[in-house]
Amino acid sequence: METSENPNTTIIVIFGAGGDLTHRKLMPAIYNLYLDGLLPQRFAVLGLDIKNMSDEAFRNDLHDGIDHFSRRGKTEKSKWHIFAKYLHYQKSDFTDDSTYTILKKQLGKFEKEWGGDVNRVFYMAIPPSFIEQIAQKIGDAGLAKNKNLSRIVVEKPFGHDLKSAKKLNLLLCNIFDESQVYRIDHYLGKETVQNILVFRFANALFEPIWNRNYIESVQITVAEQLGVENRGSYYDHAGALRDMIQNHLMQLLCLIAMEPPVSFDADEIRNRKVDVLHAVRKIKREDVHSYAVRGQYGAGWIEGKKVKGYRQEHGVDKTSNTETFAAIKFFIDNWRWQDVPFYLRTGKRMNETISVITIQFRPVPHQSFPPESIDSWESNRLILNIQPNMGIRLRFQSKRPGLKMVLNPVNMLFDYYNSYEAVAPEAYETLLFDIVMGDATLFMRADQVEAAWSILMPIIEAWEANTATGFPNYSVGMQGPADAEALIARDSHNWIVMPLEKDDKK
Ligand code: BG6
Repeated sequence: METSENPNTTIIVIFGAGGDLTHRKLMPAIYNLYLDGLLPQRFAVLGLDIKNMSDEAFRNDLHDGIDHFSRRGKTEKSKWHIFAKYLHYQKSDFTDDSTYTILKKQLGKFEKEWGGDVNRVFYMAIPPSFIEQIAQKIGDAGLAKNKNLSRIVVEKPFGHDLKSAKKLNLLLCNIFDESQVYRIDHYLGKETVQNILVFRFANALFEPIWNRNYIESVQITVAEQLGVENRGSYYDHAGALRDMIQNHLMQLLCLIAMEPPVSFDADEIRNRKVDVLHAVRKIKREDVHSYAVRGQYGAGWIEGKKVKGYRQEHGVDKTSNTETFAAIKFFIDNWRWQDVPFYLRTGKRMNETISVITIQFRPVPHQSFPPESIDSWESNRLILNIQPNMGIRLRFQSKRPGLKMVLNPVNMLFDYYNSYEAVAPEAYETLLFDIVMGDATLFMRADQVEAAWSILMPIIEAWEANTATGFPNYSVGMQGPADAEALIARDSHNWIVMPLEKDDKK
């Protein structure tokens, strides 16, 4: 979000530096920030992990990760050579107090050498079970005393439910000030997600009709073709509600539904989002079946390849009750959105990978055209394509050329590829840059996280209390279970997915 360059002198301490997140996401992002000249001149990454590794081995591992996962492709030898000098490794047992004594000395050494103020970023790239202990030990060692300079970065899942999220918030807020805690939801770093605010509040055109008088329903779909990959043991204790809806989809809902902020101040934006979460109508546990549908994938075919079912995935219980798909209908009880359904759905191993938000406008109040002219009539739709192809499509009626009056829907398109030359940064680049700059706008505040959990708790509890009958209930490569179609069809709607196709880009 920030635009100014040359941020403060910074040390990023990565707990879990030998893990997947560091390898695939964090280091490619840090390297790209370096290539773009967005890192401070005085900068270091200090990786901590239990593995025995030299600085050299650590650098080689990161080099490999960048070559595989950076949006820029393989590293250039000369640039990597300079960058590698910023990277250091320390074998560490996170449960041992001596780790923090050593860390304190190392930080002190850098700070003495560099002089002046140095940001300390403590990045938790570790399983959630370690967070409390590490945060406590950072606090006990006095490493986070300077509220302006030290920051802790916590990845999702933030807690396992409302109770554990509250406990974690309490612990963090005893050690850090809320302004020092950066809770990551990487969706907020995506260009197209940030653009929702710009689209809504930098244009006068849509805001007057962005309400219940003109909008009939809103749909948010985040579908993935991928399965649980090598994360079966984590996912089997999470499921789609915790893994995707509590965070990514609820954040998208907030951005679509929030009131215009008075300023672009981090807390102002977050306050407006929390307002939405507080207005979401709580679904009673006994009514969950009318508002929410769960699914789990069974074996099937994707693009000609046979793919195993969820219960056959590595690390997953053979009789697992965990949902890999969820669809929920929410209402937002306020003046703007009363009675407008918001349909959210997400799933793994679906027929395509696409994240899309569809705003379905109401029909015209009176149909002036003869019935034979409106064969393919469709009310106006606005489709925000979050990924993989990024853009916005407005669907409206047009007269088909010819002597007869025949109407059909057409597209007005904006796509990033034709409109901008610059390649969009990865979400983690944006978020890491903001952390270094101390801008918390794109991060979740404690109350936001808790509000999102409290909306989902009745559904989580109802689903945990009742084993799903009929799992698996959708095959790999499908759009989810039939019940999800029924959920929306009951309101005379249907799921709309309109990807931006390659042809659209011409
Ligand atoms: C993560 C979830 O937060 O988001 C994963 O834990 C999911 O299960 C991923 O695959 C999706 O992110 P993206 O950026 O690929 O849409």
